[in-house]
Amino acid sequence: MMANPRILGYLGRALSHELSAVQQYLTHAGLADLWGLTEVGAHFRREAAEEQEHAERLTARMLRLGAMPNGSRLRPVQAGFSLIELLEADRRLEWHAVALYHAAANYCALIGDVAGRDFFAALHDAELTHARELEDWIGRLDQTRRRHSTWR
Ligand SMILES: [Fe+2]
Ligand SMILES: [Fe+2]
Repeated sequence: MMANPRILGYLGRALSHELSAVQQYLTHAGLADLWGLTEVGAHFRREAAEEQEHAERLTARMLRLGAMPNGSRLRPVQAGFSLIELLEADRRLEWHAVALYHAAANYCALIGDVAGRDFFAALHDAELTHARELEDWIGRLDQTRRRHSTWR
């Protein structure tokens, strides 16, 4: 049976996303290290490992469907000059993934592909957790920034 081309499209875009996320988190880990934020660097490195595990799941799924994995469109790394700028760039990346997996899971549900829906829904939930953690972290930094500013 030929794999559904639209599902293969979602899988290809997802693999490109995950490989881009690995590159971005590794870059942010390196920047954090350079800035002396060792714990933050370790955190970004763990995120990179988690995104790589997502890439592995996608690769296995594509092979199972008889398709050769081809995450061919890496997004340029978005970085910044401060921790908050890095976190904001990661937040954009994670919400993009949430939207992508949401659309993919919905499409699978629509055509009655229950296994596909569950596969994409699990990735959706993981990315939603990432996005919410970043929202919390950014919120805490904003609060600290407000407390320490005398001009507001
Ligand atoms: Fe991911
Ligand atoms: Fe993520």
